[in-house]
Amino acid sequence: MKTKVLMVCLGNICRSPLAEGILKSKVDFDNVFVDSAGTGHWHVGNKPDPRSIEIAKNHGIDISNQRGRQFTQKDFQEFDYVFVMDTSNRDDVLSLAQTQEERKKVHLILDEIFPNENMDVPDPYYGGNQGFENVYQMLNQACDKIVMRL
Ligand code: 4NP
Repeated sequence: MKTKVLMVCLGNICRSPLAEGILKSKVDFDNVFVDSAGTGHWHVGNKPDPRSIEIAKNHGIDISNQRGRQFTQKDFQEFDYVFVMDTSNRDDVLSLAQTQEERKKVHLILDEIFPNENMDVPDPYYGGNQGFENVYQMLNQACDKIVMRL
């Protein structure tokens, strides 16, 4: 059985597609399945933001084939780990959980590197390219820790 990991942000075009691409670059596909989703519906079917595609490419990762989708209650059955980018995503995802077991699958991704500090991956949507590089660096460190627990 593969371990299934879902990365979640608001739009599923900036942060979680990067997180998906980064984690995929570090795992064995025979053992781990990685996907991403957004809590919002605005970008369903869309490619990642061009700035996320560019930053990933700069680090040797191609995320251009990803397409946006919305998080659903069914994802709790499908996935073993749900990593959310910020506390607002966490509230939205937890509002759909129906059991304690489902709630336990939800983790703030930066808890991996800054345990119990409730830190958010800042939403880079309205900023410049430096914001995306900053997000990449945080997610890369967090994914190194995630790989160790898979
Ligand atoms: P993301 O960034 O949650 O990292 O994908 C956003 C992208 C788009 C929007 C919000 C956040 N939006 O409101 O369209």
